Amino acid sequence: MALRIQFFLLVFSFKLLATAATTSVEDYTILKILMSEWQNTPPNWVGTDPCGDNSLASMGLRGLLPSDIVSLTELQILDLSNNGGLKGNIPQQIGSLAMLSTLILLGCSFSGQIPNSIGNLTQLRHLSLNANSFSGSIPPWIGNMKNLYWLDLTDNILTGTIPVSNGTIPGLDWLVNTRHFHFGENQLTGTIPAQLFSSKMKLIHVLFDNNKLTGGIPSTLGLVTTLEVVRFDRNSLNGTVPSNLNNLTRVQELYLSNNQLTGPISDLTGMNTLFYLDMSNNSFNASSVPLWTSSLQSLTALVMENTNLQGEVPSSLFSLPQLQTVDLSNNQLNGTLNIGSSPSSQLQLIDLHNNSITYITLGGAFSIKLVLVGNPVCKQSALSTYCTSATSNANYSTPSNNCLDPICSSNKTSSPNCSCAYPYAGTLVFRAPSFLVLNGSSYYHQLEGYLMAYYFNSLPVDSVSLSDPMRDSSDYLHVSLKVFPSGQDSFNRTAVSAIGFILSKTFGPFSFIALPYLHFADSSVESSKSSNTGIVIGEAVGGTLLVLLVIIVSIYALRQKRRAERFTEHSHPFASWDLTTWSGSIPKLKGARRFSFKELKKCTNNFSDANEIGSGGYGKVYRGSLLTGQLLAIKRAQQGSMQGGNEFKNEIELLSRVHHKNLVSLVGFCFEQGEQMLVYEYIPNGTLKDCLSGKSGIRLDWMRRLKIALGSARGLAYLHELANPPIIHRDVKTTNILLDEHLNAKVSDFGLSKPKENPDKDRVTTQVKGTMGYMDREYYMTQQLTEKSDVYSFGVVLLELLTARKPIEKGKHIVCEVKTAMDKTKNLYSLYEILDPVIASGASLGGLENFVDLAMHCVEESGVDRPTMGEVVKEIENIMQLAGLNPNAESASTSASYEEYGGGFPSSKLEPK
Ligand SMILES: *[C@@H]1O[C@H](CO)[C@@H](O)[C@H](O)[C@H]1NC(C)=O
Ligand SMILES: *[C@@H]1O[C@H](CO)[C@@H](O)[C@H](O)[C@H]1NC(C)=O
Ligand SMILES: *[C@@H]1O[C@H](CO)[C@@H](O)[C@H](O)[C@H]1NC(C)=O
Ligand SMILES: *[C@@H]1O[C@H](CO)[C@@H](O)[C@H](O)[C@H]1NC(C)=O
Ligand SMILES: *[C@@H]1O[C@H](CO)[C@@H](O)[C@H](O)[C@H]1NC(C)=O
Ligand SMILES: *[C@@H]1O[C@H](CO)[C@@H](O)[C@H](O)[C@H]1NC(C)=O
Ligand SMILES: *[C@@H]1O[C@H](CO)[C@@H](O)[C@H](O)[C@H]1NC(C)=O
Repeated sequence: MALRIQFFLLVFSFKLLATAATTSVEDYTILKILMSEWQNTPPNWVGTDPCGDNSLASMGLRGLLPSDIVSLTELQILDLSNNGGLKGNIPQQIGSLAMLSTLILLGCSFSGQIPNSIGNLTQLRHLSLNANSFSGSIPPWIGNMKNLYWLDLTDNILTGTIPVSNGTIPGLDWLVNTRHFHFGENQLTGTIPAQLFSSKMKLIHVLFDNNKLTGGIPSTLGLVTTLEVVRFDRNSLNGTVPSNLNNLTRVQELYLSNNQLTGPISDLTGMNTLFYLDMSNNSFNASSVPLWTSSLQSLTALVMENTNLQGEVPSSLFSLPQLQTVDLSNNQLNGTLNIGSSPSSQLQLIDLHNNSITYITLGGAFSIKLVLVGNPVCKQSALSTYCTSATSNANYSTPSNNCLDPICSSNKTSSPNCSCAYPYAGTLVFRAPSFLVLNGSSYYHQLEGYLMAYYFNSLPVDSVSLSDPMRDSSDYLHVSLKVFPSGQDSFNRTAVSAIGFILSKTFGPFSFIALPYLHFADSSVESSKSSNTGIVIGEAVGGTLLVLLVIIVSIYALRQKRRAERFTEHSHPFASWDLTTWSGSIPKLKGARRFSFKELKKCTNNFSDANEIGSGGYGKVYRGSLLTGQLLAIKRAQQGSMQGGNEFKNEIELLSRVHHKNLVSLVGFCFEQGEQMLVYEYIPNGTLKDCLSGKSGIRLDWMRRLKIALGSARGLAYLHELANPPIIHRDVKTTNILLDEHLNAKVSDFGLSKPKENPDKDRVTTQVKGTMGYMDREYYMTQQLTEKSDVYSFGVVLLELLTARKPIEKGKHIVCEVKTAMDKTKNLYSLYEILDPVIASGASLGGLENFVDLAMHCVEESGVDRPTMGEVVKEIENIMQLAGLNPNAESASTSASYEEYGGGFPSSKLEPK
């Protein structure tokens, strides 16, 4: 169903073997947002290694880019390439993603304006917005991206002029570190500003082709001596070609065709590496074929169709050593065509149709394709072979590798190695084809080898095939690419995404536009399940924690639902939820009471900032005190994160039934004057996270940590096993474990938890959330929610207790860090380096190995391999006995249990014994 949309957010560490123009091999943290209809839900990822260099991507995603993405402020790479079903606008606040280094949206269906705030992405190196439907003008603020290396806006419907700075506003002339300006296939107007180019620039590609640019070619272009490819073709440029372009000695390809350029054709002898020159269809002054062309020793193609050429074709031209193609058709060339005695051995085509040539002189063994149709010389019947219309380009298709093509069943294709498989396919689009299409066999063969050796060498790719090269009317070369799987007949999602990522992130000569892959080896989960589930980006997302996880949102469905609810609320005004007028059933509350808005306003001092103790996506949390002296934590939903009345009622009913000493209990609620608030008991010592980070000043020794682990495990076990109905927390993390005055753990924030569903029921109505770094892959891939997801998150919490590290630090997941560091044969599993120095310096670390084993058991890839919370509780009790503690003893008084930080933070690391 089209309304169902989901998003996945993942982060992986990924090593990219960069290609040609990239600087170096780099490590990247990748975050990909994947969206798909439920039919395309990625399957179970059990078995993939979260520590490995694998990537996840998807093909066939549909939906909108959630504006929530802007809260992922640590995001470094966002690659959504080749998901034709992704549409809508880029969120206005995209500029908040301050760490973003790579943004690739190529080959999607995004539209609307490119937000101005994109200019705030000053870390960005790679921006590919090509092959979408972006409109409006190019934001001048892009000029602020001082680190930008690659700017690709090709193939959109951008209008307006090319922005340059003017004293108040930045412009693209500031991009002195950028190598690629790819603006082709848009509707840009105005002149190419002279100010755009300067000698400070390091541009190698300037591709402005296929726009509506007017005026002359600015002579400042000649200052950018790093240029290698210049495409100004298919615009309305006039005036003469500036003579100082001759300074551009590194230019290999120059496309000036299809403009209204006038004047004499400038001498470009200085471009001594030029191999492709296209000046066709301009209004140059009538002249002879420029003699300087005969001195361009690298020239492979000279294309000067319809450029007012007169006189004879100089025979010296044909002896250029690299020359393959000469197209001088539709001119007024006359006299005799003399190919000369030693034409280039590479020469394949001479197209002179529609000229006035009257004689030809041919050398000996003449194998060159010569097109003379439309010349007087064709009146001689002996030349009829040269006097037929030019035929289309030679075709190419990767041949079989000395094997017999099998007959493949169903829709499989035979690979070059003659096995039947479902290839991942698409089109390589070369915007500056750096070779000749006419007979590119050797080039294509090289390209196949290059793809295998440099792109796919560490991927499960058997072979690649190229076929059907086609030069389109914009002078882009399209070549069909098929990538065949190795060892099996189709790719799994991991492999497709890795291939897709590598092809989208190339700084190489082409863009890859993929076809959807329909044959994933790992099939989808049933499509009808959990259709309304959405995981909303949790409050920690904006923080420094980053992330090994996925966020699945059914935004559209949620919005529709909210819209419907807003409507209901409107026609059913229980904005002030007076129980006497409430037409639904009265909430069955156990022990929780209703607070009036006035009462809460008063006890929080009008929700003053001073009383704010936390905030998140749902709104803010305030401390309040009642006249009785009781302290409260009041969670106030903000506009937009309100639930419908019924949902709110269900939630408070559920929360009021949950009572356990290791769970934060609900004191009451407020539902009036358009407000929804949940009132909890106030827990004085803050979050476990603040303690571990040292922020709260409380220092936890090993014994205390064991007790906290036990307490929070008991709270969760209660939710899973004793609450009625059972509750899956879904957002277990150190910020949701609070510490009371005795440093007892209390699990909080199960407010948006989902009651465990009857497995037969697949309707899920409660909005849920999860936090990056704590979610297991199995859950986000399958969306089959089980208690085992909480167990995974709890395992991450245990690892934090050991290391005091964030779940994701510097792009590395804590699970991987510990796995990598661990050596079970050594004392303390050799974890000295990554233990929290606070405990490492302590006296006893009894039971530590068992604790590590338990944590690793909790974070097993597959839920069935993880223990239940009940088992976790038992194991922690065992560990405490090993450590010489009585698990059932009540907590001692606080003073003996912790010390304040007094600047005595232990700095020495434990040395291996
Ligand atoms: C995907 O395929 C690769 C290579 O064929 C394999 O190593 C990996 O384990 C597969 N992943 C899954 C989840 O099947
Ligand atoms: C981001 O960009 C917008 C629009 O250019 C600007 O108004 C805003 O101040 C910028 N924000 C930051 C943090 O630079
Ligand atoms: C610079 O350009 C902007 C927008 O095009 C314009 O509003 C502004 O007045 C210009 N400033 C100067 C000093 O010309
Ligand atoms: C080029 O075209 C512009 C209008 O687009 C015109 O104003 C200008 O005079 C032309 N220049 C030359 C040299 O023809
Ligand atoms: C570039 O070309 C101009 C005009 O042709 C010439 O005067 C200038 O010296 C050249 N600059 C360089 C750096 O070669
Ligand atoms: C070829 O054309 C040029 C220029 O139009 C003319 O001067 C010359 O006489 C012509 N040569 C022949 C052989 O017709
Ligand atoms: C082959 O592909 C076509 C169109 O993509 C599809 O309709 C058909 O069901 C496929 N056949 C098999 C056997 O997969």
